[in-house]
Amino acid sequence: MARNLTQLELLMELEPVAERNVDRHLSMAKTWHPHDYVPWDAGRNFAAMDGQDWDPSQSRLGEVAKAAMITNLLTEDNLPSYHREISENFSSDGAWGTWVGRWTAEENRHGIVIRDYLVVTRAVDPVALERARMAHMTQGYNPVKMIREGGGTIEQVSDRGFLHSVAYVTFQELATRVSHRNTGKACDEPIADRMLQRIAADENLHMIFYRNMCGAALDLSPDQTLEAITEIVCNFQMPGAGMPDWRRNGVLMAKHGIYDLRQHLEEVVMPVLRKWNVFERNDFGPRGEQLRNELGEFLAKLQTDCLRFEEQRDRALARDARRRGQVPAEV
Ligand SMILES: [Fe+2]
Ligand SMILES: [Fe+2]
Repeated sequence: MARNLTQLELLMELEPVAERNVDRHLSMAKTWHPHDYVPWDAGRNFAAMDGQDWDPSQSRLGEVAKAAMITNLLTEDNLPSYHREISENFSSDGAWGTWVGRWTAEENRHGIVIRDYLVVTRAVDPVALERARMAHMTQGYNPVKMIREGGGTIEQVSDRGFLHSVAYVTFQELATRVSHRNTGKACDEPIADRMLQRIAADENLHMIFYRNMCGAALDLSPDQTLEAITEIVCNFQMPGAGMPDWRRNGVLMAKHGIYDLRQHLEEVVMPVLRKWNVFERNDFGPRGEQLRNELGEFLAKLQTDCLRFEEQRDRALARDARRRGQVPAEV
C-alpha cells in the first residue's frame, strides 16, 4: 500500500504546480475597484449625523435577495477564519505565500463592495447586519468541527490539513460563485447584479486555482487525496452554516433557487469530480477503490435527497401561492 505523504512532502512536491497556477491566476485576474460598483448618489446620513435611521420601507430588495445578500456578505466577512485555515496549511514561502496573500486581498474586496452597496442603498438594516457580523466572525469557521459534526473521527481531522483545505475551498469557491451569481439575478436590480457577477468571476478563478492544486495532489498521492475529498464531499456544509438566521435564510435561498441541493450536486460537486476524473481513473489502490465506492453511494443518496427536497419545495411554493391567492386551491 502506498504510504501517505506528510504535509511537508505534499507542499514541497506541489510547489512548482502552485507557482504555475499563481502565474496563471495573476495573468487572468482583472483589477477592479469596489467604489466603481456602488451607487454613492443613493446614500445619505444616518441619525447619528443628523440624518435618518434605517427603516424597512427604504429597502428596494425583496426578501429572498436580502437573505441571500446578507448570507453572502457574512460569508465574505468571515475571511480571517478562512485566511487562518489556508495560511496554517500552506507554506508562507515562495508561491504558497504569494497565493495566500493575493487570495486574501482579493477576497477582502468582496466584503468591502457588498457592505458598501447594502449600506449606501439602505437595502438591509445596518444595525442588524453589524450585529450578525460580530456574532459570525466571533464564532469563526472551523473545519475540524464540520467533519466531527458529520460523524468524522479525530484521525480524519488531525492529519489531513492541506488536503482537506484544498478540497474544501475548491467546492466552497464554486458554491459561492453559484450563490453570488444567482443572488445577482434575484436582486432584479442592474447595479447589484453587475457587482455580484464581478465577484462571481473572481470566485471562479479562485476555484480553478484550488481545483488544480487538489487535482495535482490526486495525481501525486491518489488514495490519500481521495480520502480527503470523500470526507469533504460527504460532510460538506455551506460556509454560512451556523451564522445568525442561517436556517431561515438558507431555506429561503434553497426554496428560491439561489443555492439548493441540486445546484450543489450538479453545478458544484459533479463538475469538479468529473474534472478530476475521479470515476474514470485507474491509479487508485484498494483503499482508493473502496473510497470511490463510498463516494458513489453518497452521491446516489444525494440524488434521491434532491428529488425529495424538490417535492417538498414544490408543495411549499404551491401553498405560498395559494395563501397569496395566486392560484385556486386544488380540489
Ligand atoms: Fe469571495
Ligand atoms: Fe473566492
